[in-house]
Amino acid sequence: MTILAISGSLRVGSTNTLLIQAVADRLPDTARLTLFDGLDALPHFSPERDTDPPLTPVAHLRESIEQADAVLICTPEYAFGIPGVLKNALDWLVSTTLMTHKPVAALSASPSYAGGERAMASLLPTLQALDVTLAEGGVLVVSSVRSKMAPDGTITDEATDADLRSLVQGVLRAVKAT
Ligand SMILES: Cc1cc2nc3c(=O)[nH]c(=O)nc-3n(C[C@H](O)[C@H](O)[C@H](O)COP(=O)(O)O)c2cc1C
Repeated sequence: MTILAISGSLRVGSTNTLLIQAVADRLPDTARLTLFDGLDALPHFSPERDTDPPLTPVAHLRESIEQADAVLICTPEYAFGIPGVLKNALDWLVSTTLMTHKPVAALSASPSYAGGERAMASLLPTLQALDVTLAEGGVLVVSSVRSKMAPDGTITDEATDADLRSLVQGVLRAVKAT
């Protein structure tokens, strides 16, 4: 089973990218997680740029999604929403059916106490527009993330560890059900 992970943060040392690694660490041997490396290379979406064949960075995104059994999105909250780079990537998928019924988990980590909730509130309608299948237990907001994670990404909070394990189980079940 292959899982494609997309971090909404381009930042070196991103807590959201570290959280993706924490998910990877909790996967069984039968599953493999790959971090999508092309977010920064995507052009700004515009319908007339949505050509056939697609531009190379767009083709890379679409092929990566197509080859994955499930997609995991982990995003920071920027100005009460999701980062533009992530929304841009999701917009490039709207004209395809690649995300239709694709098992998806959505996470958001923020250093602030109430952070992440608004990013999630912004992400979920976009995922709904793409008609994904959200894995059971697959929506997770990790607020105050720096108190739950060591600088190297090790999860130090028991509840978050349990939430991540149940998210993994939900993704595995959702993939089996497809
Ligand atoms: C432009 C900008 C806007 C931000 N807006 C929010 C926000 O609305 N809510 C929030 O909880 N954190 C906000 N933050 C703080 C981010 O949550 C914090 O930088 C976080 O560490 C980013 O995730 P990362 O570690 O994965 O890069 C913002 C940060 C930046 C740079």
